[in-house]
Amino acid sequence: MDALQAIRQRRSVREFTGKAIPKADIEKIVDAGRWAASGYNRQPWDFIVVTEQEAIDKLKVAAQWMDKAAAIIAVALDPTTKFWLEDGSAAVENMLIAATALGYGSCWLEGYTQPREEEFKQLLGVPEGKRLLTLVPIGVPVGWPTQEKKPLAEVLHWERYGNK
Ligand SMILES: Cc1cc2nc3c(=O)[nH]c(=O)nc-3n(C[C@H](O)[C@H](O)[C@H](O)COP(=O)(O)O)c2cc1C
Repeated sequence: MDALQAIRQRRSVREFTGKAIPKADIEKIVDAGRWAASGYNRQPWDFIVVTEQEAIDKLKVAAQWMDKAAAIIAVALDPTTKFWLEDGSAAVENMLIAATALGYGSCWLEGYTQPREEEFKQLLGVPEGKRLLTLVPIGVPVGWPTQEKKPLAEVLHWERYGNK
């Protein structure tokens, strides 16, 4: 699958079969995160991959449907860097696209994660000075949801805002 196909096919998948994913594929997904653009090239990220069911069971308080994820990637960042939020977001999107390209479903789970940041940091051993941006569950998808996107013509402006 080429990059443009994967970008278009990516959807938030919230239902997994429970099938395991080869470690090599998880590494490819994290590696895609590592290649993201980064302000001043600070690369302020660390990726904690959780595959043990006991830990998944603790993280799934954020979203029960993570129960059958093959892995959950937690993205930790150094908030003393200027663009840590943007850098982390770029890394997450890269991983979602990479997961799609490899045939796996994934989801950017931040809204449900933030209220439990401290609890999850402790669980995962994330150092005090780091922020836990989001969890990214990955798994074999039961199906590919469809989610409407705004039409290109609505959001594309040529030269000046409003020029269609
Ligand atoms: C910053 C951010 C936070 C998100 N947090 C959650 C979340 O907590 N739980 C969830 O199920 N999906 C979450 N999502 C996924 C969005 O709901 C999803 O991207 C959106 O509905 C569009 O659907 P799509 O990803 O299938 O295109 C989040 C996405 C982003 C970018």
